[in-house]
Amino acid sequence: MTITPFGSLRTHGAGTLRAEHVGDTVTIAGWVDTRRDHGGVAFLDLRDRSGLVQVVADPEAGDALEAAHRVRSEWVVRVTGTVRARPEGMVNDRIDTGDVEVAATSIEVLSEAETPPFPVEDGIEVSEELRLKHRYVDLRRPKMAAILQLRSRATSVIRQVMDRHGFLDVETPILTRATPEGARDFLVPSRLQPGESYALPQSPQLFKQLLMVAGVERYYQIARCFRDENLRADRQPEFTQLDVELSFGDQEDVIAVMEELLAEVWREAIGVEVATPFTRLTYAEALARFGSDKPDLRIERMELATLNDVFADTEVGVFKGVLGDGGSVIALALPSGGDMTRKQFDDLVEWAKRRGAKGLAWGVVEDDGSLRSPLSKFMSEDEIAGVIATTDASAGDAIFFGAGETTFARELIGALRNHLAAERGLIGEGFRFCWIVDAPMFEPVEDRGEAVGSTAWTPVHHPFTAPTPEWMDRFEDSPGEALSNAYDVVCNGYELGGGSIRIHDREVQARVFRFLGISDEDAEERFGFLLRGLAHGAPPHGGIALGLDRLVMLLADATNIRDVISFPKTQTGGCPLTDAPAPYEEIALKELGLRLAPKPVKG
Ligand code: AMO
Ligand code: AMP
Repeated sequence: MTITPFGSLRTHGAGTLRAEHVGDTVTIAGWVDTRRDHGGVAFLDLRDRSGLVQVVADPEAGDALEAAHRVRSEWVVRVTGTVRARPEGMVNDRIDTGDVEVAATSIEVLSEAETPPFPVEDGIEVSEELRLKHRYVDLRRPKMAAILQLRSRATSVIRQVMDRHGFLDVETPILTRATPEGARDFLVPSRLQPGESYALPQSPQLFKQLLMVAGVERYYQIARCFRDENLRADRQPEFTQLDVELSFGDQEDVIAVMEELLAEVWREAIGVEVATPFTRLTYAEALARFGSDKPDLRIERMELATLNDVFADTEVGVFKGVLGDGGSVIALALPSGGDMTRKQFDDLVEWAKRRGAKGLAWGVVEDDGSLRSPLSKFMSEDEIAGVIATTDASAGDAIFFGAGETTFARELIGALRNHLAAERGLIGEGFRFCWIVDAPMFEPVEDRGEAVGSTAWTPVHHPFTAPTPEWMDRFEDSPGEALSNAYDVVCNGYELGGGSIRIHDREVQARVFRFLGISDEDAEERFGFLLRGLAHGAPPHGGIALGLDRLVMLLADATNIRDVISFPKTQTGGCPLTDAPAPYEEIALKELGLRLAPKPVKG
């Protein structure tokens, strides 16, 4: 048997025809992209996955011309004809097949189509709801079709690299128990064990660790994960990770494989060379310099300055108060920001207030080295000189000040950095990767909002992350300072992935659970299977997971994760195509032993 590249109903892909095919008889099939009917002669643009070619039905074409009169946009047709060079002056440089056309001898309608709900072309103004409802039409649009192909190319390169380095592709269960990754679980009630339910995995974390105990040594999986959390432009309830774990290695092993993989994916999928090794920043440094644990390094300069020393004895009321309370004054210089109007400054103050700030002070550096600012009359000359020197500002720059609790003020000014850079076109081109290392093990529950146990602390990563060797014996003593052996990879301000070296000692794992306020009984109930695994000969191990959807978003230069997923959910977790989620049928509920509470009345 021969395997035909285009299927046995056709001889060529529409988009593959070139001058070298002139004179050949070909059969192509696909969708009618556009039709121009001049009565005596009709032109069809025929589209398939490989591209688009012009079909001509001349008066001599007989039945083919009749068929060409009849067909409409998005009908599926099969055309046999002769490839011929386009006449002088009719060459179309905008398409790859622009030198040729197919003179039809037969046009067969394979499938009629209703008028499409929106045109199959890029740059249309259509609601996302409608696009998702008719996703099969939406995915025909060149840009969307290209993204699907790009995604497939990326996963193909990923598999090659993982294969080359000896990682085994192992699947792990979807119907399982909760894995704590900081979101809510999706539950699947069990019919065979009434009253009990499975949870869909938030990640394969515990299974991949058990695979290390099992001696797999190097595992990877392109794994579907499920998290019931509030959705954003870069989050879906169901998403895909490249999930990786290795034994007998350390942080450097994981980082080396990931850098090679990312560089190869970027090269093979979009022809871009990314510089390796990636920049490394400690978590503390990233927060201090950029006000974020996912800094966008495409923004040059514009680093945060801490002015606590400058304002140590200040008479500026707001700063004095904040510093007295142990907070910080964080500032940022905006190059040439002095051209902003009063209204623009006021809008930024409002922007800051919407983010929960009490205010946002600002000033403009004048040519004589003074500061034009509503607050400058309260500042001493030394303070002004200190502000300008510490923020590295020059004449004509604007300076913004956020005063408050240190982390809050840093994050505020960090967000302002991104906001101003985007608004003023100061974000550079290309891809800037970095690793964020030495993150704290724990953070206060109040900062994160989700607790794993009953104490005031919650893991920054997950509770299976090992402390750095220095903190191994004493993380309980200074939980706010203890560092973890974790690493996140960030690109252009997106958290692309995160991982860590894991705890492979059952006792240390038990200590972390205890510290987090998970009792031994509770730990046994929730994670007994992991603890038992760790007690059966666990090798030192660690790994990482990359968000595949975010990775493709970056490759495709998309701003919305839904554009890189074939059938995504809307912002409210619905699928307009299938109308999921849908009410249960009474009988199914009965079998599951479930009764639904009445829908809450909207008040
Ligand atoms: P983490 O929770 O950091 O780590 O997830 C890893 C990466 O997955 C992506 N991601 C998401 N993408 C789309 N929608 C979501 N809702 C979503 N949530 C996460 C992000 C993120 O960086 N088991 C650990 C990894 C490990 O320790 O090896 C984990 O899941 O790109
Ligand atoms: P007020 O004393 O509240 O009138 O504020 C005086 C100036 O300081 C205004 O420009 C405020 O926007 C600014 N401001 C107030 N609170 C803060 C703060 N926490 N951080 C930075 N600027 C502030």
